[in-house]
Amino acid sequence: MTRSIYDHFHWTTFRVTAVRPDLVVELPLRLSDDARPLPVRICEGVRELIMDGVLAPGDHLPSTRSLSAQLAVSRGTVVASYEQLEAEGYLVAAAGSGTQVNPDLHGLHRRCATTAATPRPQRHRGIDLTPGAPDTAGLANSAWRSAWHRACVNPPRITDPLGSPRLRHEIAEHLRQMRSLLADPRQVVVTGGARAGLAELIQVLSAGSRRLTIGVESPGYPSLRKVPTALGHRTIGLRTDDHGLDPDSLPTSRDGTELDAALITPSHQYPWGGSLSASRRAAVIQWAEATSCWIVEDDFDSELRHVGAPLPALASLDAEHTILLGTFSSVLTPALGCGYLVVPPDLVNPFARQRRATGQPVPTIVQEAVADYLSTGALRRRTQRMRQIYRRRRRTVIDILGSLPGTTLQPIDGGLHAVLVFHGSEEGIVQQCRHEGVGVIPLSTYWGSHDPEVAGIVLGFGSHDDATLASALKIIAKVVTEHA
Ligand SMILES: Cc1ncc(COP(=O)(O)O)c(C=O)c1O
Repeated sequence: MTRSIYDHFHWTTFRVTAVRPDLVVELPLRLSDDARPLPVRICEGVRELIMDGVLAPGDHLPSTRSLSAQLAVSRGTVVASYEQLEAEGYLVAAAGSGTQVNPDLHGLHRRCATTAATPRPQRHRGIDLTPGAPDTAGLANSAWRSAWHRACVNPPRITDPLGSPRLRHEIAEHLRQMRSLLADPRQVVVTGGARAGLAELIQVLSAGSRRLTIGVESPGYPSLRKVPTALGHRTIGLRTDDHGLDPDSLPTSRDGTELDAALITPSHQYPWGGSLSASRRAAVIQWAEATSCWIVEDDFDSELRHVGAPLPALASLDAEHTILLGTFSSVLTPALGCGYLVVPPDLVNPFARQRRATGQPVPTIVQEAVADYLSTGALRRRTQRMRQIYRRRRRTVIDILGSLPGTTLQPIDGGLHAVLVFHGSEEGIVQQCRHEGVGVIPLSTYWGSHDPEVAGIVLGFGSHDDATLASALKIIAKVVTEHA
């Protein structure tokens, strides 16, 4: 612990009440026990509270009357101390609101900053089209609020390590209706979202210590690809094209590479957008059977299909090797931190064993609120409503970016992002868009093991209202036309 320069003194600590805008707090004011005049020692004590960040810029101090009463000293002593600290710039006397710590004093205190003392990060003033953000504007309707109200008033105790039995039942029902997947609720595991679910799954598959080799799509979703690497496992890139994963890129033991699992997006390849044909699905399942490898099906945004009905999950064709990795991030909000896995029967007990040691990753109140929201049919209704809105925005993307010379807009059959491919400097276009206030992501960030074959940008069209989206897309169109 850092020693204070005042530590050699003997201290007397008084607990004094200071007033923050909305609460009264007790602060330990330390007064050294020596022969120097009292105002000097009070100044020292207050200065130390400020330097330590206990008193933050903008905090109110007790009135001179109150502090003198609390310290049992004359009011004149406290007035002299405050005047001295005002002269030094630590305090300011605000007309009508007593004395407060100088609001401009940020960065002065020597220990870690309190949140109140930390300057707020600058908000990005432009239009951020980073993919992965759904529209959450109308989410907090009466169904959402009553789900949270009920969950908060009477949260049950969840004893099952795999999650709330009620939520697991509702997730199975959701999958039956939205994904044509008949899942046994006992095989559903509630997780903290796709990334958290993948991390837990890898720990189970590696039995805590074995180093795994995991195939990941390239290009593919970078945040999920990073999970195995962050946990010390090896990844190898699997080739993808407009139709999803190329099954010929799956290694066999003859190649000298044995995969433990392959992480793929069969219904909506990320970022290309294609979906795996029936023949490729059959080839992937055959490969998994022949190599005894797990397939982890990232089913991220499959409910949000714009062309035709949602495609059945690969897990509905192969329940033995396929593990479904789902999340409520895209259909509700990533802020929920809630998702699920549907695991084959053989993995249920190992998962439960691990969870008994590590505990539930999703708070009971969240699980209960999501279960409630699902049970009333509110998620189904919301998904239907949002599909209309997202289809309209997808149309706007196609209208504005669909026929720019020298570019190709990848088909947007589902989801909330678009890929615009062009000949030209990816970095130049991304920087220029940013300069003009629109945030987009370079396509090259989605490649893992080999160099990108094309240049392009990836943009999310889900989260902004129609007018904001259209104005951002027009800026992108202008920049791309100038550069491509
Ligand atoms: C393809 C894909 N999978 C998974 C996720 C992440 O889901 P979660 O937020 O639940 O970790 C995303 C988020 O954008 C994604 O694009």
